[in-house]
Amino acid sequence: MEETIVEKIVNLKKQRNAVILAHNYQVPEVQDIADHVGDSLELSRKAAATDADVIVFCGVYFMAETASILCPDKTVVIPDKDAGCPMVDMAPVERVLELKRRHPDATVVSYVNSTVAVKAESDYCCTSANAVDVIQSLDAQSQIIFLPDKYLGSYVASKTGRRLILYDGYCPIHVRILEQDVLRVKAEHPQAEVMVHPECVPGVIALADCVLSTSGMCRRAQESPSEEMIVGTEIGLLHRLRKENPEKRFYAASEAAVCPNMKRIDIEKILWSLEEMKYEVKVPEATRERAKRAVDRMVEVVKA
Ligand code: 13P
Ligand code: SF4
Repeated sequence: MEETIVEKIVNLKKQRNAVILAHNYQVPEVQDIADHVGDSLELSRKAAATDADVIVFCGVYFMAETASILCPDKTVVIPDKDAGCPMVDMAPVERVLELKRRHPDATVVSYVNSTVAVKAESDYCCTSANAVDVIQSLDAQSQIIFLPDKYLGSYVASKTGRRLILYDGYCPIHVRILEQDVLRVKAEHPQAEVMVHPECVPGVIALADCVLSTSGMCRRAQESPSEEMIVGTEIGLLHRLRKENPEKRFYAASEAAVCPNMKRIDIEKILWSLEEMKYEVKVPEATRERAKRAVDRMVEVVKA
């Protein structure tokens, strides 16, 4: 009998000593075949700690690039090289340099959703899981540029009481989640707890019971006494939430929150990726070294 795609992937993975990392927004069959499913911070930590020779990164490009920054001796491949993140494209390095020239004494904190060139110009990186802790770990007197996500930045500013110099970027998917969407779903399910991602607009964040990274939402779903939860993030997360909590009910705050770039990878592409070792993600050494400083700090920051 002919091997199925899944069997071929499992066999090739063994032959190549490969590990498959998948972001929480990936399509269900990709999540189901992955060795680890997680948020940006967890996947960076998994990449940094793995003893595999090959990392197949199922997510968007900056995530695979971050793995490559952390693991220069490993082969990092992404099954679809066009899986970009429009928020990353909103912050070209020239504009970041201009901002640095205007605020020469400022510490630069970049969301991991940024190019390698921008990471190389940054003092710290952070993810949605540790942005508050990274800002809190900085000297209270320091001026801080936070980029590119103005909504994550304003959320962090409100949590830490720090004034941040914000950049005008945002996630075009999370801004589709509107206050009236949350209010409508809440009216339909008044007992449900509302959890949202910090990339959402401030009006949506104000309606939430908790504001969490994608894996933070998975942990909260397991700990919360609520049997119903409204989820304000990209709808791919619902698969994992439902799989891990079959007794609970999860409702999307908005069905419009679909990130097309996160849906570009499927299991056929994972197989080709392992067969042909494509598409390799490699960062030029000089930029990698400069970017690694900021990324190392991101991976290391624990609660202040
Ligand atoms: P997380 O790190 O919370 O998974 O978020 C990544 C992302 O791109 C959200 O849109
Ligand atoms: Fe980028 Fe938004 Fe997609 Fe996350 S959901 S990868 S921030 S476009």
